[in-house]
Amino acid sequence: MVHDLAPLDRAKLAAARRAVDLVEDGMKLGLGTGSTAAWMVRCLAEKVREEGLRVSCVPTSLRTATLARELDLKVVPLEEAGWLDLTIDGADEFDADLALIKGGGGALLQEKIVATASDRMVVISDATKEVKTLGAFPLPVEVIPFGWQASRMLIEEMLGAMDVMGTQASLRMNGARPFFTDEGNHILDLALGRIGNPRQLSLALNQVPGVVENGLFIDICDAVVIGHADGRVIFRDAIAGTEEEEHILFEEADNIFREI
Ligand code: 5RP
Repeated sequence: MVHDLAPLDRAKLAAARRAVDLVEDGMKLGLGTGSTAAWMVRCLAEKVREEGLRVSCVPTSLRTATLARELDLKVVPLEEAGWLDLTIDGADEFDADLALIKGGGGALLQEKIVATASDRMVVISDATKEVKTLGAFPLPVEVIPFGWQASRMLIEEMLGAMDVMGTQASLRMNGARPFFTDEGNHILDLALGRIGNPRQLSLALNQVPGVVENGLFIDICDAVVIGHADGRVIFRDAIAGTEEEEHILFEEADNIFREI
């Protein structure tokens, strides 16, 4: 049960539980991808069942779609939903402006489309993802397979003129083979160390032929819920300019283990 979880998972679960409090009957929701987002999908399924809510969910990956369907959530494509009320997703890094690095799980393209098609995007995270300056986490960039080596060379050359510490771009692998995204593309992970100007870098990356999208999310995230292993959560709302500390009672979360 909850108390058997590793501290990091308890922190992720605490953030996820607080975030699903934002869900209301009739909402159209974007569901993120990754281990933190998976906790959120479980908490959401529990809430929907217990409160008899009618919500439609747009997942950001095949993985999340599978989990949501297994837990009896109503899954619809974004084309059908049109516009979403709220997207809840994880992140690899976030800074004080709630600029994000995402794509560690390889789902950044759908994640960015879904988040920007939402009235509100809320990130759920443990405290380890908060940084002063983005860039310690390698920045994922999705490129089409055709000529990906040329795209990589152009990216590395362009990075030489940017305010970053490193310029190396590595093809993400899945064992001995290149990793493929749900869209059939590859990911280049950029070892930048530090990103001095995320906005400028994001614009420059998306100008490189072959680049589909990059993992910098700027002016997209509205709030972050930071979970701690002891159940403490910090709710930082950039729009309202507020920060509140609350406590999640883990005992109430034990139900989510019954359906997985
Ligand atoms: C997937 C993502 C994830 O949100 C990010 O990698 C965080 O994952 P986790 O919650 O497992 O740490 O961007 O593309």
